[in-house]
Amino acid sequence: MKGGKPLVGEVNISGAKNAALGIIAGTILTDEDVLIENMPDVSDTNIMLEALRELGASVCRIDSNTVRINARSIGHAAIDDDYLRRIRASYYFIGALIGRCHEAQVPLPGGCVIGSRPIDQHIKGFKALGAEVEIENGSVVAKASALTGDEIYLDKVSVGATINIMMAAVLAEGRTVIGNAAKEPHIVDMANFLNSMGANIRGAGTDVIRITGVTRLHGTEYSIIPDQIEAGTFMCAAAITGGDVTVRNVIPKHMESISAKLEEVGCTIEEYDDAIRVIGNKDIRPTNIMTLPYPGFPTDMQPQITTLLALSGGTSMVVESIFDNRFKYVGELTRMGANIRVEGNVAVVSGVKEFSPARIFAPDLRAGAALVLAGLAAGGITTVSDIEFIQRGYEHFEKKLKGIGAEIEIVRSEREARKFVMKVG
Ligand code: UD1
Repeated sequence: MKGGKPLVGEVNISGAKNAALGIIAGTILTDEDVLIENMPDVSDTNIMLEALRELGASVCRIDSNTVRINARSIGHAAIDDDYLRRIRASYYFIGALIGRCHEAQVPLPGGCVIGSRPIDQHIKGFKALGAEVEIENGSVVAKASALTGDEIYLDKVSVGATINIMMAAVLAEGRTVIGNAAKEPHIVDMANFLNSMGANIRGAGTDVIRITGVTRLHGTEYSIIPDQIEAGTFMCAAAITGGDVTVRNVIPKHMESISAKLEEVGCTIEEYDDAIRVIGNKDIRPTNIMTLPYPGFPTDMQPQITTLLALSGGTSMVVESIFDNRFKYVGELTRMGANIRVEGNVAVVSGVKEFSPARIFAPDLRAGAALVLAGLAAGGITTVSDIEFIQRGYEHFEKKLKGIGAEIEIVRSEREARKFVMKVG
């Protein structure tokens, strides 16, 4: 990419990747057809859909963002898919398979290496519902003769555990109460999806979720909510390039913690019914950030906002309170001239005037996107490699950036890279 140019225009935000991953697994809970709209076409969702096929479900892509799934002919409750091991959300098959078949055998989840990511709270929930759960040869093996509702208090607010326990509990007998539940927008979306299939889930979006078991779920047509993190990333793209970008098809309420921080650093934010306009400011002010569960500032936006603060006119402190190894990208940013000192889960960010272009690599999904933003702010040619991380969660990232004026291209060889440099001059 050749950076240094303000990004200007409008960008349409895709469906929420993290909601989609839970919803794909949730389709197992009915024998009937489920039509999902606004499905982001990214590699994480495609891997989940492929795993559904391997389980014996029929998965029919109607267009790139609409999928019809029928899980009637699921033959077994064991998945052993090498790809699935690489993504975190594979754990959603455990809850869904327990709910549907009372048993599950699923590889332990992979995903971005942003810290230790245990699933003890998921397992605690499954056990409370009556399942026996063991780890055997790198897989989670669960079995239940019957599932009965119970009260489960999460020791740690966990998005994954909340969704997984909801899926295991919707068809259980009696009432399940999840205390200290996560409140992220995709928790609400997941509950709405399951309720549209006949489930009885109340309280999603608060920290107590009550689920009354039903005997069966039916088919549904459901449209996934917009992606809060994709929207936030494009809002940061406007801020970091001093541009003027309107993100469309968003739920402004979901964006409040991000909008508030961008305002604090000097951007102008205009909110509409389903759009937000961000007008950047050349002089970015420093601020402090602490990542927290929703409605706090999302950990998945931490690399992007830290990258922005690295160009501010002062010193900011960023505290990462969710994951313990989420500053790995700082080394790459330093190679572009950033001045950031990391101590444990705190980054002290001393703003610099500008980034210098460099050859850098994406260490994980969100950090990869943040480094692209850094490249778009740097005057000159920056190359980001290992972009398959970015493609896990951003639909047509470079095309959307191009649409708002970025000079960016995916190149597959040195030759193509040279051609790009010749073209952009
Ligand atoms: C999900 C998102 C991820 C996001 C994260 C926090 C998906 C597929 N991924 O990840 O993009 O960064 O929420 O918003 O939706 N924990 C435990 N035990 C558990 C579960 C979690 O100790 O059983 C800890 C984790 O290590 C972490 C914290 O709880 O420190 C939050 O994790 P959690 O909300 O579960 O994140 P994920 O579901 O993995």
